[in-house]
Amino acid sequence: MLDPMLIEAQPKGYNYEEAKVPKYNLPDPLVCLDGSKVKDADDWVKKRRPEVVRMFEDEVYGRSPGKPKAMRFEIVEKEADALGGKAMRKQIVIHLGKGEKALAVNLLLYLPKKAKGPVPGFLTVNFLGNHTTNKDPAIRIPTSWVRNGNGTKNNKATAAGRGERASRWAIDSIVSRGYAFGTIYYGDIDPDFHDGYENGIHPLFPPKNPKKRKPTDWASIAGWAWGLSRGLDYLETEADVDAKRIAVMGHSRLGKTSLWAGASDERFALVISNNSGCGGAALSRRQFGETVKRINTSFPHWFCDNYKKYNDKEDECPVDQHMLIALSAPRPVYVASAEGDRWADPNGEFLSALGAEPVYQLFGHTFGASKQPPVNKPVQGRIGYHVRTGKHDVTSFDWEQYLNFADKHLR
Ligand code: GCU
Repeated sequence: MLDPMLIEAQPKGYNYEEAKVPKYNLPDPLVCLDGSKVKDADDWVKKRRPEVVRMFEDEVYGRSPGKPKAMRFEIVEKEADALGGKAMRKQIVIHLGKGEKALAVNLLLYLPKKAKGPVPGFLTVNFLGNHTTNKDPAIRIPTSWVRNGNGTKNNKATAAGRGERASRWAIDSIVSRGYAFGTIYYGDIDPDFHDGYENGIHPLFPPKNPKKRKPTDWASIAGWAWGLSRGLDYLETEADVDAKRIAVMGHSRLGKTSLWAGASDERFALVISNNSGCGGAALSRRQFGETVKRINTSFPHWFCDNYKKYNDKEDECPVDQHMLIALSAPRPVYVASAEGDRWADPNGEFLSALGAEPVYQLFGHTFGASKQPPVNKPVQGRIGYHVRTGKHDVTSFDWEQYLNFADKHLR
């Protein structure tokens, strides 16, 4: 398997031209499996939505277990005066499972100190360890698998990585604007390499023996999304946070993850996908940039085994990704693209958001765009979208839009 981090941004041999996008028909989010048409919001909620969720589980991400019995929260560190006096910091370990394979998932939380009463917040998931999101020397360093631990090859995180990804996490602005910031390191939930589901979260739940897995069993994206739900379980116990106003956010493979977290756990009040691309916000049928076959080949552990049926056969899949965005409805959802991130198909991400609008309309909500807006010109209805200049990344421009969107919907 290719090292996921070494895969270049725009591999050759894939289509990057709009004119070469094949003709395709998207499945209608409003037509039920029995052929009837969704009449109203109630019909969507009671009949069609559960069908769509089940199709994404069985054909794309796999079925996840529910909230586990064996879960315990341990506050391992607390500081009233963090980030130069602006925030309170808490570090929580979410203990999952028992025995040898038990997991300790670290949640880092900053809370605005000036807040009066429970605050809304962002729950995020990161690539390289909580300690890479900010220079704060008190942030615990992961002991679980990390990719090439900060430039070394030993897959162990070190203090050298402190703050190395700080530019992606506008923690200062988030806290200054009155929001809590929470982040979980994805490797604590499930290491990101294909090991036949022997490690991470999967062996803690049936089928504990990977040989007994079904083609609809959960894979890594579903595992990371499930981990975000466990973070939200903790936030529900946190007096200073309003767990009913939590936005879930992730970038790239973790943007695919945040979309699935928002779709599969309706407690998330707002859903943000940053440059999530194939298997996230982008429409698979367009075959623009990364394709289903390519993603299933490079990352065989991300999606359930059934998803492999759609390699080179996107049209046969009963869902496309606009229906994933629609699963956030009627909650606000934000899809962000980057102009230079053609591998993730920026226009396909936009068209997916647009394709979700009929479901939002059932609830009386609109998007506000009918074609992809110009670069750096966000559109923010109940669905938000922007394509910014620059490459595959999370920038302060992205966060500025997410904060404005949250101000509009979570205040
Ligand atoms: C690769 C992969 C993408 C993914 C990205 C990332 O480029 O092909 O699907 O989004 O890695 O997670 O960084």
